[in-house]
Amino acid sequence: MAYSIKWFDTVDSTNYEALRQSEISEDFTVFAAKFQTNGRGQKGKSWESAVGENLTFSILVKPNFLKVEDQFLISEVVTLGIVNYLSKIGIDAKIKWPNDIYVKDKKICGILIEHYISGDKLSASIIGIGLNLNQGKFNSDAPNPTSVINETGIISDLDKELGRLTSQINDLYRKINIKSYERAAEKMNGKYLGKLYRLNEYHRYVDLNTNEEYEAKITGIDKCACLLLERRDDGSSKSYAFKEIRYLLDS
Ligand code: BTN
Repeated sequence: MAYSIKWFDTVDSTNYEALRQSEISEDFTVFAAKFQTNGRGQKGKSWESAVGENLTFSILVKPNFLKVEDQFLISEVVTLGIVNYLSKIGIDAKIKWPNDIYVKDKKICGILIEHYISGDKLSASIIGIGLNLNQGKFNSDAPNPTSVINETGIISDLDKELGRLTSQINDLYRKINIKSYERAAEKMNGKYLGKLYRLNEYHRYVDLNTNEEYEAKITGIDKCACLLLERRDDGSSKSYAFKEIRYLLDS
């Protein structure tokens, strides 16, 4: 599918730019910026990115075929597209639920997805992606950042890599952009689980509802896209929504 990529020198946030242009833009339009004055991260945080060194962009999609309850499919398409791209440039990356991209225990890419709903379907999704390419040092207190240059020593051309990365995401988006997407969704779920960071391994977590710290393994994702954790001490299982659980790093 042909799609357009619009480059900006400076914007506040590419997610805002995509929103401002959503009415006049086609399904799957890319808005990229060399610099964002108000780059936004998850949980109300800002997103650090040195000018002209990394990819900071948003993809506007109009998935009006997708039921609201299946919105996690968009996260799956995007995270898998990024993992596929990274694998092509020699980086073995995993998806930290719900949609961070990790290389071992370091974050190489952050994603901020904003969905817009009309009736029981999605009218638009703005998928903001910050992929660290050429930045070697990070100043913010973001936990364990890494970049393509830190992992491979290779300097990337932003324009070229944006084309390669968005084409991987576009390939997967086309697979689900059909009326009966259930089978494609099942396959996508399986692939997502196959790339999930810490799947079936014991690590430490904090339950943010109770502040309890315990050891558990991730066993999967439930129907609502919540994370399923099985405790090591008593074998009980619990599902967590985003913001209800914190991953602890192994010391
Ligand atoms: C995170 O906190 O992990 C999400 C980071 C998302 C950053 C990207 S950069 C492009 C797009 N525009 C923004 O303002 N944020 C996203």
